[in-house]
Amino acid sequence: MTERLENMKIITTEDYNELSEKAAKIIASKLILKPKSILGLATGSTPIGTYKELIRLYNEKIISFNEAITFNLDEYYDLDYENVNSYHYFMNKNLFSSIDIKKENINIPSGLAESLEKECESYESKIESCGGVDIQILGIGRNGHIGFNEPHCKFGSTTHVVSLDEDTRRANARFFRNIEEVPKKAITMGIKTIMNAKEILLLVSGEDKSKAIYETVYGNVTESVPASVLQLHPNVTVIVDKKGAKFL
Ligand code: PGA
Repeated sequence: MTERLENMKIITTEDYNELSEKAAKIIASKLILKPKSILGLATGSTPIGTYKELIRLYNEKIISFNEAITFNLDEYYDLDYENVNSYHYFMNKNLFSSIDIKKENINIPSGLAESLEKECESYESKIESCGGVDIQILGIGRNGHIGFNEPHCKFGSTTHVVSLDEDTRRANARFFRNIEEVPKKAITMGIKTIMNAKEILLLVSGEDKSKAIYETVYGNVTESVPASVLQLHPNVTVIVDKKGAKFL
C-alpha cells in the first residue's frame, strides 16, 4: 500500500446525517457562486440524504436549480422510466420533482434508446458541449466501482454500455423482487468522463464500504479498483462517515 496523495481531501463525519449536510453545503455553494452549474449526479442509497438536504435548502430559498444543468452517471438497460427501479424514476422521486430545475436541463442516459451506441456518443458530446461537469457526485460500490464502471474497466473509457458485475447485481437486488429482475446491462459515464469533471465529491457511508474506500485512497491505482483512479484527479473531496472510515 502506498501513501495517500495530498490532492484528495478527506472529511470524516460522525454519521450519515452529517455526511449529507456537508455534501449538500458543498453543492449549494457551487450553485450560489455559479447558478448555471453543471452538476453530475448519482443514484443509490448514499446520496439520498444529500438530495433531501438540497431540497430543504431550496425550500428555504437559499438555493435555486433554475439555471442548473444535470447529468446523471448511469441508467439500467431496458427499464421503463416509470419503473420504480429506473434511475429516471429515482431522480424524479428523490430530487427533481421537489426543486425548480427545468425539465430540458435534466440529462440521464437512456437505456431504452434504439441505438445504445449512438446514445452513448450523444450523451458524451452533450456533456462536452455544455462545458463539462463542474462537480460530480459519486458513490462507491463494495467492489470499488464508480458509476457502473466495474473492476477491470478501462480508465480511458467514455460513456458506454456495460455488463454488470454479479456483486453489483446482488447488492442492487434489494430494490427488486429478486436478483433475476436486476438488469444485466447498463449505460454509464466512463472513467474518463468522470475524470474530466472539474471537481469530484465522493460520498461513502457504512462499514461495507470501508475496504473499498481504503483501497481507493491508499491502494495502487489499478483498473481492478476503478475508484483508485481518483488519486490522479486534482480536486477530489471524500466525505466518509465514521463507519466507512474504519480503516482510514
Ligand atoms: P449505494 O451505491 O449508494 O446504494 O451504496 C453506491 C454505488 O454502488 O455506487
